[in-house]
Amino acid sequence: MDLNSFTTFKTLGEINTAISQAASLDAALKAGLKIIRDNLAAEMAVIWFYDKEGDKKLHPSYWVAPNDITDRVHAVGEGAVGRSYQNQKAIRSLWFETDPDVATQADFEGIEISSAICTPFSSPFEDYGVVQVVNKAGGGRFTEDDADVIEIMSMLVAQAISKNESRFEMWEHGEPVIELRGITREFQNGDTISKILRGINLDVYEGEFLVLLGESGCGKSTLLNIIGGMDKATSGEFRCFGQDFSNADRDMLTEYRRHNIGFIFQSYNLMPNLNAYQNLALIAELVDDPLPIEDALESVGMAEKARSYPSRLSGGQQQRICIARALVKRPKLILADEPTAALDFTTSIEVLTALEKVVAGGTTMIMVTHNEEIARMANRVVRLRGGLLHEVTVNRHPAKAADLVW
Ligand SMILES: Nc1ncnc2c1ncn2[C@@H]1O[C@H](COP(=O)(O)OP(=O)(O)O)[C@@H](O)[C@H]1O
Ligand SMILES: [Mg+2]
Repeated sequence: MDLNSFTTFKTLGEINTAISQAASLDAALKAGLKIIRDNLAAEMAVIWFYDKEGDKKLHPSYWVAPNDITDRVHAVGEGAVGRSYQNQKAIRSLWFETDPDVATQADFEGIEISSAICTPFSSPFEDYGVVQVVNKAGGGRFTEDDADVIEIMSMLVAQAISKNESRFEMWEHGEPVIELRGITREFQNGDTISKILRGINLDVYEGEFLVLLGESGCGKSTLLNIIGGMDKATSGEFRCFGQDFSNADRDMLTEYRRHNIGFIFQSYNLMPNLNAYQNLALIAELVDDPLPIEDALESVGMAEKARSYPSRLSGGQQQRICIARALVKRPKLILADEPTAALDFTTSIEVLTALEKVVAGGTTMIMVTHNEEIARMANRVVRLRGGLLHEVTVNRHPAKAADLVW
């Protein structure tokens, strides 16, 4: 390798520092991947782990990718990833058109592979998996130097893992309850059409806490509203709890929303002339089998405020009433759009603690936020950029609300 290449040298230095300084293995691997993706300008970077106790296949464990590949697996020997693992040898397919040995096109739905590097990583005692990098951004090809960086990164990853005592754990998730395929959303303003969502593919799993991150205006609320049946995609498929809503009309969406979804917004939208109990009672009347109002208030620590009017409650307390109001429906899914954006740190933690309890009770939750610290609580973090999934990461050990700091 050309170690005189400043970029290569710098990248390796950054990776080494990130891995050695990270507080956990989780953090180390994510940091390493991001550095690779950014410095090599790759479209996608994935760490595949071999599950030696489960189905004995390679699973994507950390990745930054424009697609949701949570459920992708590679059999040993299959595809570039599987072959690289089996032979314990790097596969450098630097330019697809001239290299028939590259990963098959079918390796990743939605991503046409033009250039890829797969490198196995192992300690002296054990084979762990494969690091894969796909497509230079802008359609260029990887260089031999890039491939060298990946190989060294793989060694560092293996070292980091073998130093770590704990066994690497797979993320055990439930069945998909929400399936989005090729979701687009366009808005027309006069003569111009703005394409806000450009083809979102994402599954959300039962019992999962998923956080949606992204810059202001990138389409987070738009996506949440489509999932909640408050808005309709311009095109694409949308299935929820086994039912297909791709071509649903307004009435179907209203029914769907009423029975399945609890909403929590940044603004509280409580009725000012009704007390907390009455605000919840209003919703309880609309559904078949409401959660007892006392129970809903109790679960967010607001039982004592049942008779209080919104104006007598703090922002955090009002938001907890909103959570209780969402719970009255016994929703299968809770959608929270920046629920703490208007709150200070201490009250944010109160609200997040209440939401954490809801998820612990088995309810699936999708939360939009632009607070990266809050994202540490999630099972998975999905970042939107340019109308697409920019990266999806798994938190193998989600943080507790009480441990967050900002
Ligand atoms: N009903 C609408 N009509 C026109 N443009 C809209 C509408 N809703 C959202 N947009 C536009 O779509 C973009 C994404 O909005 P939004 O989903 O609210 O972003 P985020 O929640 O990520 O901040 C913004 O540019 C916004 O102006
Ligand atoms: Mg928004």
